[in-house]
Amino acid sequence: MKLLVTGGAGFIGSNFIRYIFEKYPSYKIINYDKLTYAGNPDNLKDVENNPHYKFIKGDICDFKLVSKHIKNADAVINFAAETHVDRSILNAGDFIKTDVNGTFSLLEASRAYKISKFVHISTDEVYGSILKGSFKETSPISPNSPYSAAKASSDLLVRSYFRTYGLPAVITRCSNNYGPFQYPEKLIPLFVTNALDGKDLPLYGDGKNVRDWLYVIDHCRAIDIVLHKGENGEVYNIGGGVEMTNIDITKLILKILGKPQSLIKKVSDRPGHDRRYSIDCSKLKKLGYKPLYTFEKALKETVKWYVENERIWRRLKNSGFDKYYKLQYKK
Ligand code: NAD
Ligand code: DAU
Repeated sequence: MKLLVTGGAGFIGSNFIRYIFEKYPSYKIINYDKLTYAGNPDNLKDVENNPHYKFIKGDICDFKLVSKHIKNADAVINFAAETHVDRSILNAGDFIKTDVNGTFSLLEASRAYKISKFVHISTDEVYGSILKGSFKETSPISPNSPYSAAKASSDLLVRSYFRTYGLPAVITRCSNNYGPFQYPEKLIPLFVTNALDGKDLPLYGDGKNVRDWLYVIDHCRAIDIVLHKGENGEVYNIGGGVEMTNIDITKLILKILGKPQSLIKKVSDRPGHDRRYSIDCSKLKKLGYKPLYTFEKALKETVKWYVENERIWRRLKNSGFDKYYKLQYKK
């Protein structure tokens, strides 16, 4: 099988490419990635020389270039996106360009070249916040940030291409991932690497917002199931079943690292901050999905990875990306 993976140089995409080569050594993968600030060729150093792997630097909005590569693929797995909520609050433009227009360009190319499967990687954030119970795939979408609104728009485009043109597309909506190679602006890698440097951990609001956490390899296993067994036109929720408040995760990270709780610094809240995410994954479980990693063990492994791979994250942190959030999230 020949896969065109977009955004494969990012966090989940790079873990997915490694996962696929381990499980299906005969598969061929084209990694099509623009290499934005979040795309890091270091994430795939170990597969660079695999003869079944090819990297193309390109923008998914570039219809001509992406078509040239989609033409040779059986399936498209679309990870490429602007993904950080705080960045979308400061500047939504790139989110609309990539997440909406970029998805449109991929759909058009996939339709023109009669792709046999289009897997669109989306997020539980499209449902918005829920205080009690869990969202099902049939729940209405109600996004609250420019990021989640852009992702929701892309989901609707994918749906329309299935209904109107019969494009064999499926949508996955996953909860918060953690694991190796995540860009250090997201909660877990930011807090681990700040704590290693003895720097403050900026906790938004009262710290009681709840997220459902999933180890990235379990997400890759779920996408594998959807790619091979998912029914066209369907949406599949993917979650870890591990709901935790941000303050509890923060305390756990400090405990694992043996660092003082005094590093926690409460700062002003993220505007439009969703209180709780929770999704019901029973639909995917019927196809055989079950997360294999337990949270405490996988979090410890993740922390260990950041301790041992400073070479990868230090350069990214030195780019000074966190300075501009400080203007927004003051004490
Ligand atoms: P990431 O930010 O780590 O990586 C995004 C990748 O996309 C980067 O390699 C970047 O260079 C590439 N990219 C960005 N714009 C591009 C463009 N215009 N053309 C081509 N490539 C482009 O993201 P991630 O955390 O790995 O998320 C991957 C996907 O999974 C996204 O679609 C995201 O919405 C979704 N998702 C993420 C999570 C999570 O917890 N991280 C959870 C659910 C869903
Ligand atoms: O739910 C899936 C989504 O999870 C993905 O679609 C997004 O791409 C991904 O970025 C993630 O979004 P979140 O906004 O939930 O992740 P983030 O790591 O930015 O924040 C997690 C929680 O921690 C959230 O409640 C905000 C809080 N937070 C985050 C940062 C970066 C803080 O308190 N302080 C921080 O410095």
